[in-house]
Amino acid sequence: MSSSLFLLLFLLVPTLMLEFRYHSNSEIEQYLHQVSSANPDITHLYSIGKSVKGQQLWVLALGVSPRRHTVGVPEFKYVANMHGNEVLGRVLLLQLIGELVRGYRDNETWSLQLLNGTRIHILPTMNPDGFDEADTHCLFSQGRFNYNGVDLNRGFPDVFAGLRKQQELNEEQREAEVRAVMDWLRTETFVLSANLHGGAVVASYPYDNSNRGFDLMGVASITPDDDVFVHLAKVYSYNHASMKQGNLCEDSGPFRDGITNGYHWYPLEGGMQDYNYVWAQCLELTLELSCCKFPHWKELPALWMDNKKALLAYIQQVHLGIKGQVFDSSGTPVQKAVVEVEGRRNMCPFRTNQYGEYYRLLLPGTYTFRVMYPGHEVLTETLSIPYGPDQYSAMKHNFMLRRTTSATFHSPADPSSSCNYTLHPKGGSATTRSTWSGLTVGFGLVTLLQSLIE
Ligand SMILES: *[C@@H]1O[C@H](CO)[C@@H](O)[C@H](O)[C@H]1NC(C)=O
Ligand SMILES: *[C@@H]1O[C@H](CO)[C@@H](O)[C@H](O)[C@H]1NC(C)=O
Ligand SMILES: *[C@@H]1O[C@H](CO)[C@@H](O)[C@H](O)[C@H]1NC(C)=O
Ligand SMILES: [Zn+2]
Repeated sequence: MSSSLFLLLFLLVPTLMLEFRYHSNSEIEQYLHQVSSANPDITHLYSIGKSVKGQQLWVLALGVSPRRHTVGVPEFKYVANMHGNEVLGRVLLLQLIGELVRGYRDNETWSLQLLNGTRIHILPTMNPDGFDEADTHCLFSQGRFNYNGVDLNRGFPDVFAGLRKQQELNEEQREAEVRAVMDWLRTETFVLSANLHGGAVVASYPYDNSNRGFDLMGVASITPDDDVFVHLAKVYSYNHASMKQGNLCEDSGPFRDGITNGYHWYPLEGGMQDYNYVWAQCLELTLELSCCKFPHWKELPALWMDNKKALLAYIQQVHLGIKGQVFDSSGTPVQKAVVEVEGRRNMCPFRTNQYGEYYRLLLPGTYTFRVMYPGHEVLTETLSIPYGPDQYSAMKHNFMLRRTTSATFHSPADPSSSCNYTLHPKGGSATTRSTWSGLTVGFGLVTLLQSLIE
C-alpha cells in the first residue's frame, strides 16, 4: 500500500477506534499526536528521549491536569515493548488510551473518577528500534535487543550487583533507552507502574535479583513490601480473563494464582522493576501477557478483551494506602524528609518529593510511621489505613514536624549514610570500550538463553 493511500485510510478511521493490527512506530506517533490534539484538556504528549537510532520515545499523559503534577494526585505509568519482539503491550496500551478517552468523553463515571484523581503516563514502545527488527516468531529473540544488541531489561543499575559493578557502567554509558527511563523517574514521582512483556502469562513482582542475603526466603527474593506486591500481582491476574489459572502456556509455569516472585521464576540482573522499586520508590510489576511473543493479529481483539479489565483495575491500585505532605516547623512542605513505615526496611528509604509529598502503597491495616527531617524531632504516628482504590483516593494525612531542641538530627539528610546507592550514580570509574563490549556480549549470551522464557 502506498503511504499516501495509507495516510488517507488512517485519517478516515475515527480517531479513537484504532483497528486491531500491529502499527508501525510512525503510525503510533501519528495516532498519539491525533489523540492529543483532539483531547488537549485531558492528554499531553511528550517524549522522554530518543532510541539509539534516534526514534522518539513518546509518552501520552492522561488526566484532568495532564501537563503537570498536582499535589495529591499520584503518578502512574505503563511501559510496553521494552523487548522489541514482545509486541502485544503496544497494542494493548493504544487500545487503553482509546478506552480512557472514550470513557471520559462519554461521561462514564469510572473514567471521570480515574482521570480526575490520577495522572496516567503511557509509553507504548520503549524499544522502537528492536521492534523494527523483530521477527514474528513466538519464541525467538530476533528484535528483543536494542540497536546496540543490549537487553534493556538487563541494563539498569542493580542494587544486588555490588557497588563495583554498579560503577562499571556509569550513567553516560548506559543505553539511550535506559537513560531516558532513568531521567523520567527523576522527573516524576511515580507511585505505581507495570512493564508489559510477552512469552508467558504471569504477573511477576520484585525482586528479580538477590545478593543471597537478607532478602532470600526459600527460593524467592522478597521485598519489605511483599504483601503489597502479592496483592498487586493478584489484582492483575484475577481481573484478567484467565491468568490466575497459571498454566496457560506450555513452556512456562505453572504459576500459583498466575503470579510469581521474579527471582523465584529466574534470577536476572539489571532489571527495570528492581530499579523502579529500590531507587525510585515506584512499585513496578512485570506483566507477561501472551504465550506467543508476537501473536497473530487476528487474536488481538480477544487478547484486548482478556486484559482490558485488569489494565484498568491495576491503575486504580495507585490509590492504595496513604499519601500527604510533610511540613517543617514553619509550615513549609519539605523535600527529602524520610517517611518510614515500621517493619519495612527499604534499601533506600522513601523520601518526600519537591512538593514535600509522600505516597505509600499499603494494604488496609494499622501502621506506625516515623518521619525524619534535619533539625526536627523524629515524629512517630500510628494510623489506621482503609482501602483507597474504591474511592479513587488513598487516605490523606499530613505530618507536621517540630523543631528539635537537642542536637541536630542529620543522618537521613545525607542519602549516602542511609542508602548505599543514590538515584544519581555519579561518574564511577572510567570504562574502556573493550570492557563495555565484553559486558554486552556477556549479557547477550545469558539473555539469549533466558529469552526462550520471556
Ligand atoms: C458530558 O457532560 C458534559 C458536561 O456536563 C456535557 O457537555 C456533554 O454533552 C456530555 N457528553 C455526553 C456524551 O453525554
Ligand atoms: C474530582 O476531584 C475533586 C477533588 O479532588 C472532587 O471534589 C470531585 O468530586 C472529583 N470529581 C469526580 C467526577 O470524581
Ligand atoms: C550499606 O552499607 C552499610 C554500611 O555502610 C552496610 O552495613 C549494609 O550492609 C549495606 N547495605 C547493602 C544493601 O549493601
Ligand atoms: Zn520480555
